[in-house]
Amino acid sequence: MVGMFLTFLIYGAVMMNQVCYGISENKKKFTVESGKRIVSSLSTITTKTDSSIACSSLCTSKTDCVTASYDNLLKQCLLDSDCTPTTETWQNALLIRIGDYPKDCGDIKGRSGVYSINPAGENCGYKVYCDMETDGGGWTVFQKRYNGNLDFYKNWKEYKEGFGNLKKEFWLGNDKLHQLTSLSTYSLRVLMEDFDNETRYAQYQSFTIGDAASKYKISLNSYSGDAGDSLTYSNNMQFTTHDQKNHETNSRGNCAVTFHGAWWFKSCHRSNLNGGYLAGEHQSYADGMNWYTWRGFHYSYKSTRMMIRRK
Ligand SMILES: *[C@@H]1O[C@H](CO)[C@@H](O)[C@H](O)[C@H]1NC(C)=O
Repeated sequence: MVGMFLTFLIYGAVMMNQVCYGISENKKKFTVESGKRIVSSLSTITTKTDSSIACSSLCTSKTDCVTASYDNLLKQCLLDSDCTPTTETWQNALLIRIGDYPKDCGDIKGRSGVYSINPAGENCGYKVYCDMETDGGGWTVFQKRYNGNLDFYKNWKEYKEGFGNLKKEFWLGNDKLHQLTSLSTYSLRVLMEDFDNETRYAQYQSFTIGDAASKYKISLNSYSGDAGDSLTYSNNMQFTTHDQKNHETNSRGNCAVTFHGAWWFKSCHRSNLNGGYLAGEHQSYADGMNWYTWRGFHYSYKSTRMMIRRK
């Protein structure tokens, strides 16, 4: 009995989350958990501070910091942009979580790159790539292609959850796209670059992706730009992948299979930016990264970027 009680006490001391709220200098909420420190993470910055409060303040003053840990003995403050960094038990340390996460890239100041966001203010957010240059920045990127190294001919589950590497080519994921666009009003910008290095864009004033039950139905309006409007054709259509056909029946079978893509197909498309990376002119019909109103159905772009910004 005594042994069990002791074990409980020791565990209690080490494992108990001593959660307390504080207000740092710039009035952001943070929580502190004792007996834990951040171990390894690429984004960690190490610095010396006089106290854990100073460490919290340092973290809240940096837009890309969401978690910090403070070692009371070494007076070492570790800053991290990941809200769930790898941690380990460490007696003299505190793990600090900042309460105010950015909702999306619009709340972040800095250069283009990978940042943590937390759109719904849930316990833990996730990482996204932010475009901070285009038209004043603040864009949360959900599709990025530029060299064809990543195969975009993926299935329903992969498009739902997202795939690729945020620092390279990727699809953020339909669930996240739905979550983001259901919490606030967003506009959409599609950027394309051809192999002559010319860039053009198509922008839509409003852009919403429905939930999984709606099959990630796309709703958009008010085109502007210089690439022409090749997406309004897909308005109100559901998402289709090679393993899940959600578009109207036509002579082409599953449009995702026929045109080697995954898109809001109708019968079938005017744009196919998840199509094959065919690098410029191609003989085959409409199965590349096509945007009809700029370079037609036989030209596949060098790079594309699809991104949203809160209004
Ligand atoms: C396009 O840009 C790349 C990289 O800056 C350059 O190497 C290439 O020569 C350019 N191509 C043309 C057609 O201007």
